[in-house]
Amino acid sequence: MKAISVQVEKAVKTYGGVVALAEGNLTVQSGEVMALLGANGSGKSTLSKILTGVIAPNGGQVLIDGKATSFGSPQEARKAGISAVYQELSLIPDLTVAENIWLSHEPIRGGFIKWQEMRANTQQLLDLFKGLYGTNLQPDALISTLTPDERQLVEILKALSFDPRLIILDEATASLDSRQVNRLFELVQTWKSHGMAIVFVSHRMEEIFRIADKATVLRNGRTVGERVIAESNERELVDLMIEGATILQRERLPVVDEQKPVRLAVENLRTNVLRGVSLQLRDGELLGLGGLQGQGQSDLLMALFGAIRCEGQIVLSGQARTFHHPRAAMKADVALVPGDRGSEGLLLIRSILENLMLASWSRYRTPIAFSKARADGGQIAQELKMVMSSLDAPVNSLSGGNAQKVVIGKWLLRSPKLLLLNDPTKGIDVGAKAEFYNLLDRLRDAGTAILFYSSDDDELLGLCNRVLVLHDGEISAELREDKLTRENLVAASMGASA
Ligand SMILES: Nc1ncnc2c1ncn2[C@@H]1O[C@H](COP(=O)(O)OP(=O)(O)OP(=O)(O)O)[C@@H](O)[C@H]1O
Ligand SMILES: [Mg+2]
Repeated sequence: MKAISVQVEKAVKTYGGVVALAEGNLTVQSGEVMALLGANGSGKSTLSKILTGVIAPNGGQVLIDGKATSFGSPQEARKAGISAVYQELSLIPDLTVAENIWLSHEPIRGGFIKWQEMRANTQQLLDLFKGLYGTNLQPDALISTLTPDERQLVEILKALSFDPRLIILDEATASLDSRQVNRLFELVQTWKSHGMAIVFVSHRMEEIFRIADKATVLRNGRTVGERVIAESNERELVDLMIEGATILQRERLPVVDEQKPVRLAVENLRTNVLRGVSLQLRDGELLGLGGLQGQGQSDLLMALFGAIRCEGQIVLSGQARTFHHPRAAMKADVALVPGDRGSEGLLLIRSILENLMLASWSRYRTPIAFSKARADGGQIAQELKMVMSSLDAPVNSLSGGNAQKVVIGKWLLRSPKLLLLNDPTKGIDVGAKAEFYNLLDRLRDAGTAILFYSSDDDELLGLCNRVLVLHDGEISAELREDKLTRENLVAASMGASA
């Protein structure tokens, strides 16, 4: 592989009056993993997109191998050996895996696409993650039939298919489970040894310390420092990112009061994926759901929310219920925060305020209530540290993490009795995560029953008192108190009973 050196100097990007990037600096070389760190809205994706020709900067310059370069399009950047996995997924749902990966660079002979070769090449790429995705993921599968983690893998393989000298991974691990992340990191090590340069964006500190050689830190659109990972620590990096931030260092929640009423009792719940799940959840309890991606966690939450069909018994607030539609569940004070903001629940061209109010419309209908809506919306935005120009700005002007905060805020505003969380903090920065955990505490103290799926083991270990681990559609372990350790969590995720 031909060596590469990339320098971004004083890059600037503004949108109207909004400064997305005020002074972006970044240097990365062959054989190096550079982490790009910063709070939600600090400019990481903007800087990445300048490097890949998606965004034209208003100022500054990009030097490739010492030469000033300006890319007019992603195609030009790819020709120069730069390709990226973007935070917002970009696959076309109605095309196949192979068509998506090779779109715009299909193998062609005599004006015809060589389908056989294209499929074989796709299979070869898929084999890099062999055994780590569902049987459904095949070269000819339509993207629309894939799970979020499988789509993310396809995005990664697509970027790889351009044989890049520099690959940018913008939160490419957020939808992956721990085994898939491990494999990706093995691949990154190999790429590195072949002389590829890698820019790695993630809000998970643990990942950054595992894989990165250096870190470039952005704050409010400015590069504020570069550190060698081996000579730095989490505290230092977080301090650079956010002044005075608190990192997740918490006491485990108190044991749940067994006197509290049981809000939710589930008996032998079955769906296409679930094979008989039973659980109880009391008011004021934060019950964790763990396990590898796609073991039935989402199915469980969706079934409880009436979004997919299920069999078995659900008793909510003492009454046997089966919801056939989310509207019915919402009426019964159930809320679900989805992790996949793209496909679930945001009207991108509508304002932040309208989106926040979307689930609580009936409560804020009158003119007087409307000013209350603005006040409540403003408060939740502040509590979640949303970075935005105003509540009236469209959601599509927000950074990825800030858009996810709108999804969370929208459901918290409904003050539900049963709160279902489907990996809600994906892509949320450390500071805002801490705020979110505080909000959860307050909801719990107020008696809300919370069922919390997280793909981030640290989050389950740090917050929950009891975690149910799902494997292959069943609960493979219930871990509580002393038994709730990383080792047990990993073992149970693999299907071993603890
Ligand atoms: N199209 C746009 N119009 C207006 N403002 C924008 C637009 N795109 C980005 N911004 C603003 O630019 C800032 C930087 O956004 P960017 O997406 O680069 O952040 P980020 O560091 O990637 O954040 P995250 O961790 O949440 O993904 C944000 O405040 C965002 O609201
Ligand atoms: Mg981003």
